Amino acid sequence: MRQPSPASTAPTSSSLLLQRHRHRGNGAIAASSTSSSSSEPLWPPAVRDPRRLVLGVESSCDDTGAAVVRGDGRVMGQALVSQQELHAPFGGVVPKLAAEAHQRAIDGAVERALAEARVAASDLDAVAVTSGPGLSLCLRVGGGKAAALAREAKVPLVQVHHLEAHALVARLPAEGGAGEGEGGDSPPLLPPLAPAFPFVCVLASGGHNLVLLARGVGDYSVLGTTLDDALGEAFDKVARMLGLDASPSGGAAVESAAAGKFSGGPDSSSSPLAIQPGDPRAFGFVRPLKNRRQQKGANVSYAGLKTAVRMAAERTLPELLDKLAAAEEKEKENGGARDENESSSSSALSLLRKAQADLAASFQRVAVEHLAEKAALGLKLALAEEPQCSALVLTGGVARNALLRREMEGVAAAAGLPLVCPPPNLCTDNGVMVAWAAHERLDAGVARLPRPEGMPDPAPEGWVDCRPRWPLAAETAAFRAELGSSARWVKTARLHESLTELTREVLLREQQEEGEGKGSGGGGGGQEKKEEEVAL
Ligand code: KG4
Ligand code: ZN
Repeated sequence: MRQPSPASTAPTSSSLLLQRHRHRGNGAIAASSTSSSSSEPLWPPAVRDPRRLVLGVESSCDDTGAAVVRGDGRVMGQALVSQQELHAPFGGVVPKLAAEAHQRAIDGAVERALAEARVAASDLDAVAVTSGPGLSLCLRVGGGKAAALAREAKVPLVQVHHLEAHALVARLPAEGGAGEGEGGDSPPLLPPLAPAFPFVCVLASGGHNLVLLARGVGDYSVLGTTLDDALGEAFDKVARMLGLDASPSGGAAVESAAAGKFSGGPDSSSSPLAIQPGDPRAFGFVRPLKNRRQQKGANVSYAGLKTAVRMAAERTLPELLDKLAAAEEKEKENGGARDENESSSSSALSLLRKAQADLAASFQRVAVEHLAEKAALGLKLALAEEPQCSALVLTGGVARNALLRREMEGVAAAAGLPLVCPPPNLCTDNGVMVAWAAHERLDAGVARLPRPEGMPDPAPEGWVDCRPRWPLAAETAAFRAELGSSARWVKTARLHESLTELTREVLLREQQEEGEGKGSGGGGGGQEKKEEEVAL
């Protein structure tokens, strides 16, 4: 196994004025400027503040999350309200309904998180909120609440990128890890598996599918994305095609069905039918992009696989559903008694469940193998650029999937790296990851993002900066060429400057201020200065 390494000396391609923007060990940053003849680092190392309290608010899609997290990683209180049942009849998230549901849930979620943490809003050191990407109407709800709270508590508001939060939550110190204990003044250390920068991150959620090289907080390169659907989206659609009860999520339902477990049907009562796990080779779905092996980017595609599953489901399931309905009808006519010549409803149900399990398992196998293959390619590309990558991180809602975790373990092991996955409840959307990403940004001194043009400083009451389409990193020309003009991601991603570009602007601004003598001197900025800088 490779060990998390100290700073490397290889230059990064993403730096502008920064010759190096390198994180050391568990998050320390050092950077030097090409414009400076001195080799002294201009930026102080990341300053951890184990006692800092941040409230994180998440409302970018269909989960309302709030959590109070301390700087040492201790989750003091959290609340999560899911809208899964609300949207299930529509087969997807309905933005207006989602926003209304966030509105109903947000005050309660924040109150519960604060109450569980036994703190008042005035005890907080910062409020963090997901500013994007996500559904505009929904982002506004969390943004409005967080801005009001920050103003009321007179603390900084930290805008968080949803995907960075998914990635960085892998670095959240494990509960009970170092840094625990009241009054402990010693600087907390991250547990051994919290990945040091740089690391490779596979992020698979309902709306995004990225293979990333994470060089530092706010410093990412996209090594691969999806040419059409995200993996979570494909899982959700397959759940609908198979007629599964998508609770708690389409992905979870497909995973359960593949294991022969079903909920929400006649067999979900106290004595469920004993169904064998699905046969992952029952349907020979073709692995996507098979004929494009020469591809350089670690891109995935799920549209073709999804169509293949739909066609197989349409071929297989209607007949079995008809047989089940006929058997149930017959039994009802006979007052519950079975006609010996007819197949009983339970055997008809068994056949239906077997077909659903086979379809689910076959889809899951190919979908997971495809991502694993591309992750291996991404890892290779990343290691060529950053040989000191410390880990492969798997995160986002789909990282809850056990088969995917197993496959990725193999990918990581083949490269001599550990696989790091956040605990399952932190893979899907939550407030903890937002609060933790804000800690990381505060620690690194990059928490105050440049405001969009025209936005006054301080923002007037009610003005919330939302970035519904906000890329994590700008795509390179080579990457764009690789994706082709048909890729949805390329068409839509450029509405906002990427987080990586914005973070670089923050660093350059700091550098300028240092140069003008406004800063407090390299290395000794300390937390007070940082917090003043991010204040509204
Ligand atoms: O990260 P997330 O909570 O929301 C987005 O940012 O999109 O991810 C939600 C996605 C959904 O598509 C859901 O079906 C999928 O994660 N998911 C799973 C599993 N649990 C959740 N996919 C496969 N297997 C699972 N066990
Ligand atoms: Zn998410």
